[in-house]
Amino acid sequence: MKFSSIKGMHDIGPPEVALWQRVERIAREVLEGAGFSELRTPVLEEEALFTQSVGNTTEIVEKEMYSFPDRKGKLLALRPEGTASAVRAYIEHYAAPGGAYQRFYYIGPMFRSERPQKGRYRQFFQIGAEVFASSHPFTDAEIIHLAHEIFQRLGIQGVILQLNSLGCKKCRPAYREALLQFLRPLASKLCEDCQRRLERNPLRILDCKKEGCIAATTGAPTVFDHLCEECWAHFEGVQQGLKRLKTPYEINPRMVRGLDYYERTAFEFLSGELGAQNSLAGGGRYDDLVKDLGGPPVPAVGFAIGMERLISLLPSQASQEGAGKKVYVACLGEAAQRELLPILSDLRRAGLTVMTDFDQGSLKSLLRQADRLGTDWVIIVGEDELKSGQAQVKAMKGEKGQTPVPLSGLLAYFQGKK
Ligand code: HAM
Repeated sequence: MKFSSIKGMHDIGPPEVALWQRVERIAREVLEGAGFSELRTPVLEEEALFTQSVGNTTEIVEKEMYSFPDRKGKLLALRPEGTASAVRAYIEHYAAPGGAYQRFYYIGPMFRSERPQKGRYRQFFQIGAEVFASSHPFTDAEIIHLAHEIFQRLGIQGVILQLNSLGCKKCRPAYREALLQFLRPLASKLCEDCQRRLERNPLRILDCKKEGCIAATTGAPTVFDHLCEECWAHFEGVQQGLKRLKTPYEINPRMVRGLDYYERTAFEFLSGELGAQNSLAGGGRYDDLVKDLGGPPVPAVGFAIGMERLISLLPSQASQEGAGKKVYVACLGEAAQRELLPILSDLRRAGLTVMTDFDQGSLKSLLRQADRLGTDWVIIVGEDELKSGQAQVKAMKGEKGQTPVPLSGLLAYFQGKK
């Protein structure tokens, strides 16, 4: 029986895994530099955590969750996103009775049973960040800026930031009603999904990408006609913060996002280079979610970046950057292998990447392998070298050539070359 990976789920190995490592390193640098601590939560949670947070009427919960009963009949789900899990963990371990200020980030796989296509997978990775117990609009601006900063440091160009305010529990009901009044007479022009959404989740209709729905909703009332004073002040504060942080944005009053927990700020980073799945990252404020999931009444805001999409935008030269110097040890014969075995370990301890292959015999095949692995130098040791006590060090990159180096001096020689 031959197995292959599950549809929409992929192995990540060399050479592209180097890009993943680089992205993770930079994301950690940016987020830890802003006081975020890593949070690692299980990939399995109770299903109800997601139905109650992401929302019963969202596509993620209605159609895309991997849910199943465990052996005792308890309903579990593979996490479709990271915010609900972060909130659960915050309430369980970090909230303190009054709701403590916390900044967390996470990097890990999420699962949505969507129809796979370019940029859309069933297992995909997110880099997410969440701030708990801050209601200040500059926190929203800062969180948005941090995602922008990750893109900048990775050299990614052409990303557009769209910003919206979705109002709050106080002002959204009136907007919902106005939208319903506008949409009800147009119901027959909407797609099947949107007809279902009409009474349950009418705001989502604004986000539908189907032509008929876009046409039907042209001229629909916007959220800006209904925002309360506090929501306006918050929205203006976020924009002021973004301007101070030199983070360019566009306002899109139709952007509502596919998760139900948002209030006030919602944002998305889009890239034309991603094709149909053009959302690189998204996030927003979810001021009632912690309370709704049984925690203290603390406001919160966060983002998540899709790693596969981010990596597909990386400049191709990025894979070479940051790789440490590589040494390949070519031992010709058993005596040379015995002699060099501890030296491999010494060189590694000194910080070099050191590779070998004990099963290859000929110098030609060893050199071919060294070349394929992108090594900087090859240390060649055979019978002659053992007799003379001098290894041959062959440079594989830059100015090529061969230098004799005493076996006892190899460590010192390479320490200067890291
Ligand atoms: P989201 O917009 O559902 O938000 O996902 C964030 C990002 O994950 C998307 O912009 C996209 O890059 C990536 N993504 C989503 N689905 C897929 C997929 N099937 N295949 C590949 N990439 C995908 C959230 O998940 C929220 N939890 C973000 C957040 C954090 N809001 C507040 N804090």
